[in-house]
Amino acid sequence: MTHNHISGKGLPRFPEPFWRDSINLPTFQPVKEDLKVDVVIVGGGITGITAAYLLVKEGLKVALLEANNLLNGTTGHTTAKITAQHGLIYDELINHMGRTKARQYYEANTEALQFIKQTVSEHQIKCDFSQQDAYIYATTEECANKLEKEFEAYQQLNIPGELVHHIPFDIKIHNALSMKNQAQFHPVSYLAHIVQLITANGGLIFENTMAVDLEEGDQPTVITREGQRVTADYVLSCSHFPFYDGLGFYFTRLYAQRSYVIAVKTEKEFPGGMYISADQPTRSIRSATFNGENIVLIGGDGHKTGQGKDTLEHYKALETFGHEIYESNEILYRWSAQDLVTLDKVPYIGEITANHRNILIATGYRKWGMTNGTAAGLLLRDIVLKRDNPYVDLYRPSRFYINPSLKEFFAQNFDVAKHLISGKLEIPNREAEDLTNGEGSVVLFNGERAGAYKDDNGQLHIVDTTCTHLGCETEWNHGDRTWDCPCHGSRFSYTGEIIEGPAELPLKRLR
Ligand SMILES: Cc1cc2nc3c(=O)[nH]c(=O)nc-3n(C[C@H](O)[C@H](O)[C@H](O)COP(=O)(O)OP(=O)(O)OC[C@H]3O[C@@H](n4cnc5c(N)ncnc54)[C@H](O)[C@@H]3O)c2cc1C
Ligand code: FES
Repeated sequence: MTHNHISGKGLPRFPEPFWRDSINLPTFQPVKEDLKVDVVIVGGGITGITAAYLLVKEGLKVALLEANNLLNGTTGHTTAKITAQHGLIYDELINHMGRTKARQYYEANTEALQFIKQTVSEHQIKCDFSQQDAYIYATTEECANKLEKEFEAYQQLNIPGELVHHIPFDIKIHNALSMKNQAQFHPVSYLAHIVQLITANGGLIFENTMAVDLEEGDQPTVITREGQRVTADYVLSCSHFPFYDGLGFYFTRLYAQRSYVIAVKTEKEFPGGMYISADQPTRSIRSATFNGENIVLIGGDGHKTGQGKDTLEHYKALETFGHEIYESNEILYRWSAQDLVTLDKVPYIGEITANHRNILIATGYRKWGMTNGTAAGLLLRDIVLKRDNPYVDLYRPSRFYINPSLKEFFAQNFDVAKHLISGKLEIPNREAEDLTNGEGSVVLFNGERAGAYKDDNGQLHIVDTTCTHLGCETEWNHGDRTWDCPCHGSRFSYTGEIIEGPAELPLKRLR
């Protein structure tokens, strides 16, 4: 267990997810030779690990390639509520896709919850799994009306839920909508156990193995950054942003949304349940266990990656909210992460395009990936094994609903074009030498826009801020000390290395 340094303002200085810090994960070697397997899976988060587990159980030879370390992507930075209550969604799904698909969305996510519950019980997995009721609450009249509509949608879809007027916190609410018998867990403990089951069943896992390309064909081949070739009957892209696009143009159909989490220790007893606000900025609350004591995870304050205010302000907003509901708190951890959102808010799971029957993707969970990522594992397994699955059409990546997809498509791509141009026109008014230790900023360097960070020892790290994906200008993320792209969410360390794609090349270092 490492200890975070505490800054003067009470926030732990370094962003660190509590989940990853509280258990020891196994480590794996990079792939060192060409391989031939039945299925190659790219990405070691909840999606890739669940899919690998399900496929090795069926006797298939599986290789899982992870660019970094397992569970260090969004899954290692989640809040891990396991629920089919995904904010306000069912009324919208009925209006856009009809009642049958809306009900299927509920069923797919409820079955995923049941799958996790059953797996935990079958293998006696110690991961603090506990059943909890989920609540969305409204603090404004506008959202209270939306909750009433959502409740009507629950009734139309036969979703058990109740409209109540009180939640056990000192928050003035208009109403709240419950969904009974949902759950929460420690996602990394759960998935670390699943990793053991994968290797025990002959599955191959490789870390520090980045997939950079793919050769299509009857036997597609994934090519790694170091040039190894892994050939299989099926390739599953579980890499969050698809590592290979297959001319599906996913960068025009997905955007990245960041959120913040703080883990706090409080004197007051947690009343049970999991909570999320319907109003913006979002506030999410759940309990967890730390060294045998109960703690509370407070999350929210989301925004599009690379856009908006100083990122440290988001943590401070959560800290203030924590003080409002619990008078005094000790902040043990803070972290942030991003998830991808599709045009119609339903994930893309299945064949990457209609012409690629053996290249499958799973992405776009809109911050509800514990159930959607598990549902993806189940659906990908069934596609590989050519079994019927009721959710193929619901999640089919090539679907396109005119309403709302067309509007979102234009809004999203207008936003990208705006950032592409505005970043180029901006003339920075700071110089690298002016920065204080620990500070980063866009600066003027040799007459051009550049990114500078002065580390705690006073050393300057200067990079070209032009994103290596499609050329938008990255922005400084103060809270995490990274360069974040406002267009499709690529992120880079202050020295320019890739943290997450779609970019595959680092930022150019200028000094
Ligand atoms: C702050 C926050 C809170 C959330 N809270 C909840 C919640 O309470 N409940 C819920 O259901 N969901 C929640 N979510 C969403 C959920 O955490 C995600 O949807 C889910 O973890 C995504 O899982 P994944 O496996 O698709 O991606 P990841 O966990 O990101 O895994 C993808 C992996 O692929 C690897 N990779 C990427 N590119 C390559 C490549 N080229 N080669 C090899 N490997 C590669 C990455 O390194 C990464 O390890 C939250 C999300 C956020 C951001
Ligand atoms: S992520 Fe697409 S341009 Fe940066």
